[in-house]
Amino acid sequence: MDASRDTISRKVLDWYDAHARALPWRAPPGTAAPDPYRVWLSEVMLQQTTVAAVKDYFARFTNRWPTVMDLAAASDEDVMAAWAGLGYYARARNLLACAREVAARGGVFPDTEEGLRALPGLGAYTAAAVAAIAFGRRTVVVDANVERVVTRLFAVTAPLPGSRPEIRALADTITPQDRAGDFAQALMDMGATVCTSRSPRCLLCPLSSPCRARAEGEPEHYPVKAPKKARPARKGRAFWIERDGKVWLVRRGDKGMLGGMRALPDDGWSARADGHGEAPLPGSWESAGRVGHVFTHFSLELSLSVHCGAASADPPGAGEWWPVDRLDDAGLPTLFAKAAALARAPVA
Ligand code: ADE
Repeated sequence: MDASRDTISRKVLDWYDAHARALPWRAPPGTAAPDPYRVWLSEVMLQQTTVAAVKDYFARFTNRWPTVMDLAAASDEDVMAAWAGLGYYARARNLLACAREVAARGGVFPDTEEGLRALPGLGAYTAAAVAAIAFGRRTVVVDANVERVVTRLFAVTAPLPGSRPEIRALADTITPQDRAGDFAQALMDMGATVCTSRSPRCLLCPLSSPCRARAEGEPEHYPVKAPKKARPARKGRAFWIERDGKVWLVRRGDKGMLGGMRALPDDGWSARADGHGEAPLPGSWESAGRVGHVFTHFSLELSLSVHCGAASADPPGAGEWWPVDRLDDAGLPTLFAKAAALARAPVA
């Protein structure tokens, strides 16, 4: 690398001053830091998800719960339902636990990386990002976009994920003392709009001259990744039990996949692979088709069985009859929303 750390950070910050994306949780480049609550909320939402997917959720959350005290006072059910569709539901449970902890501290977020790291659900990335963006601390913030920019700039040949410590150390060498929050968000924006995975737009990049991957001629070769393990495939069944325009919904246990979310009853697919689980009621069942869903560690094929038996007692266990015409308000996670759409589809 021939350009010095100062040259690189200056190029990046100049680029950001001209090209920063205007995002609802951001302060414009170089201006006073935004509300830590909004920074924290956006960073938790943005983990594993795109800016486009998060924008509406962020607007809904901040309209309904404008401060961390408001969010802390919300019920678990309301927050889980508002999160439905964003995925990774453990994050929503941690979000609420964190809001309540901050509320117990008078609604004030800790302003250091270590202090933030001690809050529920804040991993190394989120603590570093909030400390830099909301509190101006010099931290090293590395997400997938930053990994792409850094591995290209330095032509890191070791594969991810093993190369993470090296990438972090390299990111540290180019992070400036001041404006670390803007610097981090600049790398994120460059990664999202210029230094993209498949066809990087090197002509628009402020780091094209020092970039080693560009000099080599194949920047899209980076980041090098270790071969992925195949995702196991699981099968399961979900059950549609409808009476008088209402469908039987359960609440999933707090632990495990989609924990705490409202759902259709199912056969415990998360623990089995064969798709032959027991139905919750006697009587006859008709197949309404299958939906597929990909989770981080496995893919799932869920068959939907519709109850055709005569009305009898409620299904065993806790649950509620939910009006079918208000199902959109139930906060079903995407997997069950897809299954419900099958049950409601007109028969061809
Ligand atoms: N991804 C995660 N955090 C982000 C941020 N603050 N700006 C843009 N993209 C992001």
